[in-house]
Amino acid sequence: MLSSKRILLIIGGGIAAYKSLDLIRRLRERGAAVTPVLTRAAEEFVTPLSVSALAGQKVYRDLFDLTDEAEMGHIQLSRSADLIVVAPATADLMGKMAAGLATDLASTLLMATDTPVLCAPAMNVRMWDHPATQRNLKQLQEDGVRVVGPTEGDMACGEYGPGRMSEPLEIVAAIEAQLTAGPLLGKRLLVTSGPTHEPIDPVRYIANRSSGAQGAAVARALADLGAEVIFVTGPADVPPPEGVQVVSVETAQQMSDAVDAALPVDAGVFAAAVADWRVASASDKKLKKSRDGMPDLEFTENPDILKRVSQLDVGRPPLVVGFAAETDNVVEHATAKRLRKGCDWILANDVSPATGIMGGSENAVILISDSGAEEWPRLGKDEVARRLAAKIADALAG
Ligand code: CTP
Repeated sequence: MLSSKRILLIIGGGIAAYKSLDLIRRLRERGAAVTPVLTRAAEEFVTPLSVSALAGQKVYRDLFDLTDEAEMGHIQLSRSADLIVVAPATADLMGKMAAGLATDLASTLLMATDTPVLCAPAMNVRMWDHPATQRNLKQLQEDGVRVVGPTEGDMACGEYGPGRMSEPLEIVAAIEAQLTAGPLLGKRLLVTSGPTHEPIDPVRYIANRSSGAQGAAVARALADLGAEVIFVTGPADVPPPEGVQVVSVETAQQMSDAVDAALPVDAGVFAAAVADWRVASASDKKLKKSRDGMPDLEFTENPDILKRVSQLDVGRPPLVVGFAAETDNVVEHATAKRLRKGCDWILANDVSPATGIMGGSENAVILISDSGAEEWPRLGKDEVARRLAAKIADALAG
């Protein structure tokens, strides 16, 4: 619930602005008061009348509107909220924020504020992938701005990829996580999840049976405690949770690069089932059975992401948590793995087929740390995730 929370909603000029109308409705349903601000460009997509009707409040539009300055200066407007939400955060708005420009009401409010800011980016996939946007994103995150989305999918411009604004309910979840003071509020956490796909040729790949369920549950539990979560996921069966920043990858190398881009973090949880090997030289053409006969695949080792991050001299997260999927001598193997990789904790589980854990809804884990092995009862993957998130919160607080 968001009762008595005050949200200043800055609506940028993008087609996703229509979703912000629903966002206003969802926030008000939960008891929040929404003060809307429209950029000039946003008025091309939604009308001030519909925004103010849904918000039940005046819409602020112009920096030089003297009536507003007399009623409530822009400084005060920016500070009287519990949270400023920028949705859609266009490439232009993100650029202005990152550069510290104050050229219109929206950017001036964002410069004048000491209130936490949450952005929901929305733009064309090429604009999102552009180095300038990625640079701005990194800058904003370093400045403490929280980001929800964007998600991947068909876009209004006809292209496909990341750039779609998160759905209103996902933005609401991120707002709730930020405003309901959880013990991980202000902490930035990284979670890797899912399998990786290692290409053989453009249509074939090597994969594993990880569903991504445990990683998604951990990311959700951390976000529920107020953490900002960067969720780096391979092609998983389960959808990513709401309220986290999703980075979709396919291969181990891409996952490794995405992890590097997410650092620094306060803690990293490495739940992905990363392929240990890849095909040394994947073909860029489909291998033909008639012409090429049996393929002679040569393998090469993938980067061990957990090990590399655990052993970083500079920028090692204060807490690094790995997973170990074992089929025998679980404690012994996982204890050795913790030392070999250099991580702080290992959550070990028995994935021998008889347990039904791989791909199932439950997990039975043993937490290995420098104080020994702690056996948890067999629990649902969500409950395992909640226990782990609570332990992480304790460790980061202590
Ligand atoms: N991991 C990783 N990068 C890899 C391989 C594994 O980050 N290339 C991480 C996993 O996310 C997990 C942990 O390392 O947290 C354990 O992975 P596992 O595959 O069990 O370890 P291995 O070193 O491959 O050990 P073994 O194959 O001997 O069981």
